[in-house]
Amino acid sequence: MNQAEGRIDGATVRADFNAINTVLHYTRAAHFIGLWKSELALIRQYFPDPAARLLEAGCGAGRVAVGLWHQGYRHITAFDFASELVEQAENLAKEHGITGLTFLHADATELVGALALKRPVWAVAGNCSYPEQAFDGALFMFNGLMQIPGRENRRTAMRELHRVCRPGASFIFTTHDREDPKDLAEWAKEAARWASGEQNPRLLEFGDRYFTDETGNTFMHLPDRREVLEDMVAAGWTHVHDRTRNELASETPKVRNFSDNCRFWVARK
Ligand SMILES: C[S@@+](CC[C@H](N)C(=O)[O-])C[C@H]1O[C@@H](n2cnc3c(N)ncnc32)[C@H](O)[C@@H]1O
Repeated sequence: MNQAEGRIDGATVRADFNAINTVLHYTRAAHFIGLWKSELALIRQYFPDPAARLLEAGCGAGRVAVGLWHQGYRHITAFDFASELVEQAENLAKEHGITGLTFLHADATELVGALALKRPVWAVAGNCSYPEQAFDGALFMFNGLMQIPGRENRRTAMRELHRVCRPGASFIFTTHDREDPKDLAEWAKEAARWASGEQNPRLLEFGDRYFTDETGNTFMHLPDRREVLEDMVAAGWTHVHDRTRNELASETPKVRNFSDNCRFWVARK
């Protein structure tokens, strides 16, 4: 393993998301796929009031934030640590004639300071002690939380989101499911590789994957259920509910081609 190919860290993932093919992939999704039925159903269930002040982490090219705007949600602050994607999100909002969405360039693991730099209109008007406890809820959709390498870093992001949400706020995020029966044989082989030290040396933890396809490089941690529940508790969140996407809605072929089934988790502060 040479220096250029050291352990995967946040900088690796950020560079991968800023790479041209990846930017195109998420920009196309934002333009042509939009909100999934499952996302909308769950967001409407936990945030029935469209005046809810929502913070979207890992917004990419604006697929969810712009979709929610068209569903009537007007107090959305969305951020991503890949500047190229934030630029695409801003362009998409402009193209849709949206002026009230706040997009920020920020890292979920160092959130509070970054948010303090730009107060959205509602925070200025409400004179609230932004960003601490300023939000009614947080979203980290399409597995973005699991693209943070290192369990402690994922917990830090969950703590940061907890810190900027008010008591009683809901947090919705998604993950893949390492215990999916169809993948158990593959994970057993991967466990054997870790036991003999033959895993990809760039990975940090069992459950990590790093692969390359036509959309670029992807880092993804696949957790088991126990791990997600423990991390929620460590970050101050209480587990409310979890369901797979297939249980929540029947998605269009376009959505299913774009992305695998995943598990939606809902937690409360
Ligand atoms: C799978 S993409 C999803 C993008 C968008 N939410 C969507 O559904 O199209 C995950 C996103 O999380 C972002 N991300 C990963 N780690 C992050 C971090 N530490 N802070 C902020 N954004 C992060 C990536 O840059 C990427 O845009």
